[in-house]
Amino acid sequence: MSSLLRFDGKVVLVTGAGGGLGRAYALAFGERGASVVVNDLGGDIKGDGKSSSAADKVVEEIKAKGGKAVANYDSVENGDKLVQTALDAFGRIDIVINNAGILRDRSFGRTSDLDWDLIHRVHLRGSFQVTRAAWDQMKNQKYGRIIMTTSAAGIYGNFGQANYSSAKLGLVGLANTLAIEGRKYNIHCNTIAPIAGSRLTETVMPPDLLESLKAEYVAPLVLWLCHDQCTDSGSLFEAGAGWIGKLRWERAQGSIVRREGRAMTPEAVREEWDQICDFTDATKPASTGESLAGLVAVLSQMNEGEGIVPNPTSAGINPL
Ligand code: NAI
Repeated sequence: MSSLLRFDGKVVLVTGAGGGLGRAYALAFGERGASVVVNDLGGDIKGDGKSSSAADKVVEEIKAKGGKAVANYDSVENGDKLVQTALDAFGRIDIVINNAGILRDRSFGRTSDLDWDLIHRVHLRGSFQVTRAAWDQMKNQKYGRIIMTTSAAGIYGNFGQANYSSAKLGLVGLANTLAIEGRKYNIHCNTIAPIAGSRLTETVMPPDLLESLKAEYVAPLVLWLCHDQCTDSGSLFEAGAGWIGKLRWERAQGSIVRREGRAMTPEAVREEWDQICDFTDATKPASTGESLAGLVAVLSQMNEGEGIVPNPTSAGINPL
């Protein structure tokens, strides 16, 4: 497959495309033939203020290279307006890159309602609003490609980012369900956890590291995931500095604590703890079906056993 991956005839909406990662995606799509809606509210890093100049500049950059682009300055919280811009300018919407983001870092005890709500409104609710506005169009045309943007902070947690990490991991859940609901309509939804030098990271990373973490090194993954040739959906990737890797869940073989002749008590859980937490021969369930299948197998093993105590969590404490 040596042919160039092109997006001629495709309409792409990139949220928060006035700078950082979103700008790199918008430029890359524009260079490869897509019509691009460059959305950006133009506020500051905490979500205060607004300006049209960030989006306008990127539109000019795309046009200067011979590409097609229009600007949109609405907040992602008004997702229908963003999608309407795509429909008005180009008549359709094929690809949505949910990328807009802000930060309001605080240690958990100091996180205010506003810190929590603003982060959730922009990241999680914003991605919901934009994607839902495009969903019926995608269903009707039996084609859609959606990207959600999570973060290592969401996947692993990070000090001072309780609001951000919870919203970011919420996006993984949203993407996983959209991948399932979109399957029969040829709508793919994948999630990326990028790492790149931008105004969000320039205050926390040294300049030489930022230099090697260019947004341009993340854009090729986004374009590939959105191309017709890519069949992945419901997947999660980390990407940065030119490296890309896929992530998945892992589950220990675990232990059947409720056994014949033994009550299922907290003490029994303690006894089995090493086995419960042992990842030797771990499985990798990729759906709720696969997750439940493991439980069904366990239940059938249990049903073969005589004398398993039914619900004895409090056994030994309050024997009624
Ligand atoms: P950035 O600050 O350079 O770009 C984000 C853009 O979103 C800004 O231009 C901003 O004006 C825009 N924006 C903010 N609120 C908006 C709203 N309500 N509506 C429309 N536009 C809005 O930041 P960066 O680093 O490019 O981040 C892009 C995405 O990647 C964010 O979702 C961020 O959380 C995520 N991310 C970035 C990482 C990094 O290393 N740069 C690490 C992990 C995740």
